[in-house]
Amino acid sequence: DTQYPSEIREYLYKILVIGDLGTGKTSIIMRYVHNIFSMNYKSTIGVDFALKVIQWSPDTVVRLQLWDIAGQERFGNMTRVYYKEAVAALIVYDVTRPKTFEAVAKWKADLDSKVSLPASWGGGPIPVVLLANKMDLAEPAHPVDVEALDNFCEDNGFLKWFGTSAKDNNNIEEATRFLLTEIMAAE
Ligand code: GTP
Ligand code: MG
Repeated sequence: DTQYPSEIREYLYKILVIGDLGTGKTSIIMRYVHNIFSMNYKSTIGVDFALKVIQWSPDTVVRLQLWDIAGQERFGNMTRVYYKEAVAALIVYDVTRPKTFEAVAKWKADLDSKVSLPASWGGGPIPVVLLANKMDLAEPAHPVDVEALDNFCEDNGFLKWFGTSAKDNNNIEEATRFLLTEIMAAE
């Protein structure tokens, strides 16, 4: 007969998805949560939300509350409110537009100045993963410098970077699973 775990543990985590305009934040979330993709660009106004429920292990369920923050919000004054109580973040740039990579450090600085882990988790900056998105468009016109990105992550307090494509559904699962593993270890 079937063995049921005696106790199901449930976790709720707030994860931020930030980065400049049009880098693919909404597309990454739509791919991750609903497995859909559209080439139509509808810029996010303010913030959107999505929930992903993950059966992490037989006795552990994780609810990921994804906060999809509009790129234009970097110039607004609401990010402090949006960042509140987040335990991790994905920062997204577009591999075809170097300016969006230049903005990554600005997003990270904004994040670190406005949110940190709860004291019960030891405080400190929240874990952040960098997503180099639109990898389907990278070669040959926009090659990605792996070593430079590795160094950038090490120098700027990113756990790791992943090359992703919301269009091709590449590496989004992997990146979020990695981030989640870090969160679960931190708690
Ligand atoms: P804001 O809400 O304005 O901050 O933008 P965003 O970061 O949410 O970008 P969004 O997901 O709306 O994507 C912008 C455009 O890029 C859309 O036309 C998407 O179809 C396209 N796009 C997103 N991800 C990819 C990808 O991996 N590959 C390609 N080729 N296009 C993508
Ligand atoms: Mg958006």
